[in-house]
Amino acid sequence: MFDTVFVLLVIAALLVVVGISQPLAICLRLPPSVLLAAVGVGIGAFPLISRQFGLVGSVGAVGLFTDLPVSSVTFIYVFLPLLVFEAGIATDVRRILQDTAAILLLAVIATLIATAVVGFALWPFARVPLLVCLLLGAVVATTDPAAVIAIFREVGAPARLTRLVEGEALLNDAAAIALFVVLLGMILTGREPNALAGLAEFSVSFVGGGVVGFLAGRLLLWIIPRVGDNRLAEATLTLAFAYLVFIGAERLFHVSGVVAVLVSGLTVSALGPSRIAPENWSFLAGLWEQIAFWARSLIFILASILVPRLLVDIGPDDMLLLGIAILAAFGARAFALFILVPPLEYFGLTQRIDASYKLAIIWGGLRGALTLVLALAVTENRALPPETQRFVAVLATGFVLFTLFVNGTTLRLIMGLLGLDRLSPRDEALRDQILALSYAEASEAAHEIARTHALSEAAVERVVAPYEARIAAANAEVATATNLTERDRLAIALVALGNQERVLVLDMLGHRVASPSAVQVLLGNADAITERARSEGRLGYRRAGETALVFPVGFRIAYSLYRRLGIVRPLAERLADRVEILLIMRVVIERLMPFNDQQIRQLFGERIAGVIREIIGQRRDAAASALDALRRQYPDYAAELEMRFLRQSTLRQEMSRYQSLFEEGLIAHEVYDDLKRSVVGARVVEQRPHLDIGLDTRQLVKRLDILAGLDERTLDRVCQLLRPRFAVRNDHIIRKGERGDAVFFIASGAVEVILPARRVRLGSGEFFGEMALLSGRLRQADVVALTYCQLLVLRRVDFERFMTANPEARFTINRTAEARRAMNTGELATPSEASG
Ligand code: CMP
Repeated sequence: MFDTVFVLLVIAALLVVVGISQPLAICLRLPPSVLLAAVGVGIGAFPLISRQFGLVGSVGAVGLFTDLPVSSVTFIYVFLPLLVFEAGIATDVRRILQDTAAILLLAVIATLIATAVVGFALWPFARVPLLVCLLLGAVVATTDPAAVIAIFREVGAPARLTRLVEGEALLNDAAAIALFVVLLGMILTGREPNALAGLAEFSVSFVGGGVVGFLAGRLLLWIIPRVGDNRLAEATLTLAFAYLVFIGAERLFHVSGVVAVLVSGLTVSALGPSRIAPENWSFLAGLWEQIAFWARSLIFILASILVPRLLVDIGPDDMLLLGIAILAAFGARAFALFILVPPLEYFGLTQRIDASYKLAIIWGGLRGALTLVLALAVTENRALPPETQRFVAVLATGFVLFTLFVNGTTLRLIMGLLGLDRLSPRDEALRDQILALSYAEASEAAHEIARTHALSEAAVERVVAPYEARIAAANAEVATATNLTERDRLAIALVALGNQERVLVLDMLGHRVASPSAVQVLLGNADAITERARSEGRLGYRRAGETALVFPVGFRIAYSLYRRLGIVRPLAERLADRVEILLIMRVVIERLMPFNDQQIRQLFGERIAGVIREIIGQRRDAAASALDALRRQYPDYAAELEMRFLRQSTLRQEMSRYQSLFEEGLIAHEVYDDLKRSVVGARVVEQRPHLDIGLDTRQLVKRLDILAGLDERTLDRVCQLLRPRFAVRNDHIIRKGERGDAVFFIASGAVEVILPARRVRLGSGEFFGEMALLSGRLRQADVVALTYCQLLVLRRVDFERFMTANPEARFTINRTAEARRAMNTGELATPSEASG
């Protein structure tokens, strides 16, 4: 009883300290962790100092804090999963994905190098085995990028650089902890140090953890939509999963729990927003931010309370070792950034990182909560010899303190010296304009509210005035302070447009008119468009818009599965995806128009709005024609999906109508519940209908004029000779110069024959590829699909049989081939005449 009260009391007191130190850190412009560590060390040092000065009385009270019954197991099992899961969930995976190669290389290889460098540097001087030195290397290899990133964000460092640092630190922690576990295992079992076995064990643990984490994340995302949109239940499940995954991975699968938790967090972060309603998602993210903040702060303060006791009997030897460890660790990091990164930059795997940023990253490599947790795990492991415990504890905590008090306090200064503490004029303008856009929205909203509630003009004016002033100020600043070119302003406006697109897509999800997977793709597109508009302006926006329309990798894989193995289903799924994505994309682009005509025009002026109108128009047309191509092929399916879209939109309208009736007190709770229930299917997205890609030979044959009027028996025989085939736009069906192996009949769609002097378009009912078969020569031309096509393929081996069985078809085919040949030879003789 006493223990519980006592622990709670201490924790409450510490939370007060944590709470107060937040605003204080902002005041002092220090990383909050530095302040917390200072307070912790202060509390920890108090009993020692008072004992020194004989102030025994006051020790009792402070002793409460220093003798907490909180073991390292508590730290590891209670706090670590929380910290790591939150790190995963808070990461914008889609953005990091672009730099995966660089991040993985940097994180894993740099961690291994850092561990080795620190270990081998210490070994000759330390009185402990090499493995223990390496263990220390792993402990100090984790980095806490929060401080650097906070400053990077503040100064508007390139977004991609910030992501690189963030992503690297994330995986770096996971790698360091996985390595730590392997090394600790080796020490505890007294095995001979064996680099190869160690590396193998590390790889299995790391990769295995990744697999377990990914599967667990998918499982969680499968369960979450089944709790009926309840945010409390959703958040609770994620909390439970953080622990289940950690313990399950460690105990059940014997792989790295930290990696598993991290990867499951990343999976949820990547796929969650499209499966969890937006308001619930932000609740979840907020909750996790809070949880992780508590965990991090408590670890910090509790661990730093222990520091003074660890450091009381520290001698000059220890100082020497600490100095070596610090030099080695920073040296290893410099090696990674200045030697490992340049090749990556060279091959375009990562954005070029300025030397000044590299220096900032090195100097900003603070060690934080994770290093302390790992050090504590060693200190309290009774199975380890005391000198090992002491070695790791003293050096690791010394290391953390050094980075906090030396690097942490001077980071801002160094950034200033490196010239990294200012926003570039363009980014400053971007920020101002985006702010101005929000002001404009706020002022618009004020007008709207005034209209609906019939408030007086004067009141509106008063409320809106400050906003108008701020908009004017932002605009004036942009116009005068920086000499932004028209192109810059256009780029800024396009970034705003990209942001709006993201909002609109999420809106579609919120209204449940689009399926999660479609939203996922569209969100990715919106992000890519924004990003490229930011870096390359108008051209980037256009290119990214075009890229959004090409067949994605998944589609191509499905298509090649179909072509090579004849598996139709994935292809049908991807086609259905495409119809849906294009449908929603068109709606979203359509809705960008009013945004441009109002907000963008108001802020950036008529000219820019005009240019953007044109750009949006082009995108809309491109999306519409891509959709039309599919719609022509699958009219019923497209109509079905459109109807679903309309039905869901109507249901949403109906629901929100009922909700406002209920909120205004016009209907009772029971009635509201009843109504809600009556809105069928409103809670979940309707199942998407299945797309039949229509490859039934008999149906296709019926569309061919050339085979019209066959009796049933002949039709059956013909059907056995023909194979259906599906082709997508730009598919090369025949290549010039190949040996002819089949004739193709076009059941639907269109192809183009590419002849030396011109192109001939062939449509439904026509055929091609007959010339090589009849003449025995090689293919005379390329034939490329212009649209989605359903073809019927007649192979060389069946050709004779087909011709004998269908005299009429034979006649047509022979005659057509003859005419084509005549046309082609005529053309070759007098190319200029023919092409004219
Ligand atoms: P083949 O030579 O086997 O492969 C290319 C095909 O393009 C050819 O058979 C014809 O089917 C088709 N082709 C060639 N020339 C023409 C033309 N002038 N008009 C229409 N189709 C043609």
